[in-house]
Amino acid sequence: MKPRILMTRAVFPDVIERLEQYFDVESNQDDHIFSVDELTQKLQGKDGVFTTPSERISAQVIAACPGLKAICNMAVGYNNIDLDAATRAGIMVTNTPEVLNETTADFAWALLLAAARRVTESEHWLRAGKWQKWRYDSFLGADIHGSTLGIIGMGRIGQGIARRSTGFNMRVIYHNRSRLPVEKEAAANHAQYVSKEELLRSADHVVLALPYSAESHHTIGAAELAMMKTSATLVNIARGGIVDDAALVAALRAGRIGAAGLDVFENEPAFDPAFLALSNVVLTPHIASASESTRRAMANCAADNLIAALTGDLPPNILNPDVQSRE
Ligand code: 8YV
Repeated sequence: MKPRILMTRAVFPDVIERLEQYFDVESNQDDHIFSVDELTQKLQGKDGVFTTPSERISAQVIAACPGLKAICNMAVGYNNIDLDAATRAGIMVTNTPEVLNETTADFAWALLLAAARRVTESEHWLRAGKWQKWRYDSFLGADIHGSTLGIIGMGRIGQGIARRSTGFNMRVIYHNRSRLPVEKEAAANHAQYVSKEELLRSADHVVLALPYSAESHHTIGAAELAMMKTSATLVNIARGGIVDDAALVAALRAGRIGAAGLDVFENEPAFDPAFLALSNVVLTPHIASASESTRRAMANCAADNLIAALTGDLPPNILNPDVQSRE
């Protein structure tokens, strides 16, 4: 008998076909969002689950699913899963690192350029039929070239963002839990390690690329926004909750910072509707990794992990390698 797995969300059909070679698959191609009770009920008798960050796999869900052996998340971030509870329960947990680094770094630049140079704001104005004449001061923005880029969270994605800054002749400063080895700093456009306060005060543009955790909750709140330059741009391609969205709305509304580019929000897909009334913010629906090839690579990476986990191999991207796996 094949092991049984649940796919919590719709995914590329060929990835499901691949998984069907190994598993008895319960898919969800209608993309119905499961309540906690539905999810718990569907996980009964399942050996593995293919998740995305829209499902919270809490300690409570884990405790209610004694047969579960592997949780394979189609994302690099895994703050939707209680890793400690899974480890205690003997469940392997995996994510999809590396495959999305470059695509996500590209998108940080898309948001930075769009916000600082007012691309979407001016496009909306043009589409609304308001372009009657050229003016010397229409949509003046902030320069990217020659400016100082501050990156908070200098992991693989942060380093990719920094590398791209060489063409813009920028200075890079960064803040991270720990300083990078010098050769990695050199490869990241000679990024210079500074305190969070110095970064916020000195950067012309601040990009957030750190994982969400209890410690990183509201890394940027009212106090931090007050330290930034009034012309500064803030870009969040990391996770909702790293920024205090209410404080950001207030700062953007008051012109306390120049602009923001946001791909992630607290409580997404719901988000603070006050953002919609602000012209100095670019809003996208969590698409930083959304290129065709990268989303396919992420789905196949999660599938590889699930296949390895349930066929007796160590999954390539296991997050809790010391887990005493369930038989
Ligand atoms: C995902 C992400 O697309 O990998 C992550 O952590 O945030 C995105 O790349 C999103 O979480 C849906 O899977």
